[in-house]
Amino acid sequence: MKLSSANINVIVKACRNAAKPLIRDFGEIEKLQVSLKGPGDFVTTSDKRVEKILIEELQKARPSYSILSEEIGEIKNDDEFKWIIDPIDGTANFLHGIPHFAISLGLEHAGEIICGIIFDPIKNEIFLAEKGNGAYLNNQRIRVSARKKLENCIVFTGGPKKEAKDKELILEEYKKFSSKVLIPVRKLGSAALDMAYVAAGRCDGFWQRNLNYWDIAAGVILVKEAGGFVTDFEGNNEYIKNKNILVTNSKITEEMIEVLKS
Ligand code: IPD
Ligand code: CA
Ligand code: CA
Repeated sequence: MKLSSANINVIVKACRNAAKPLIRDFGEIEKLQVSLKGPGDFVTTSDKRVEKILIEELQKARPSYSILSEEIGEIKNDDEFKWIIDPIDGTANFLHGIPHFAISLGLEHAGEIICGIIFDPIKNEIFLAEKGNGAYLNNQRIRVSARKKLENCIVFTGGPKKEAKDKELILEEYKKFSSKVLIPVRKLGSAALDMAYVAAGRCDGFWQRNLNYWDIAAGVILVKEAGGFVTDFEGNNEYIKNKNILVTNSKITEEMIEVLKS
């Protein structure tokens, strides 16, 4: 089986085109890593280039859709469809030559994400989902894990950023989860891939504060279509507004909410 609606074809093509220079740039970064100047500016340029290609492709295919993209912000249009773009999620990994980052692109319609792609160009993994039609990894159907007890699970998180106002709280939450699970909590550095990994059953749960819409948009539809749950820390639907997201395989939601509340 394979996902192949008109919108899916558009997002796959846009990502494939944007991934070409991204893969080339990553090769350059590995060299810049050992130079004194470092790859800082180079990464900013690369991020903007990926964004530009994505936007050009999407505008060509769907001229009436609005856009919200991390680097350039909003492009408003009349249509009730909106692309939500994170050109590189996992920029710190990219900057340090760590091959774990992704292009993340979701499509919102009437306030709901209806399809999305998370594309890891280095591992050549394409996570795709469409409302009502399931979630896929490189054309294979994916499902969330079946683990029932938090204790036996692998959970992911991210942050805190240096400037985060709730830094202490975030570190505290990390400690609380660490005391509940047998396998140490992971921080892999890409919220989009964290969510894709929950969808694929590689990890069982994920929580994080202070995430933006572009970090999570594509992940939301992937996890839902793979049978998982996406809520805020209270188990409600307000994760875009309050920026705190909890993602689970559906079985460990209550236990994770308990830890966050404790
Ligand atoms: C970041 C990554 C990271 C998360 C940060 C995000 P960026 O996105 O998703 O995993 O911990 O909160 O800002 O800056 O690499 O696009
Ligand atoms: Ca991001
Ligand atoms: Ca980014």
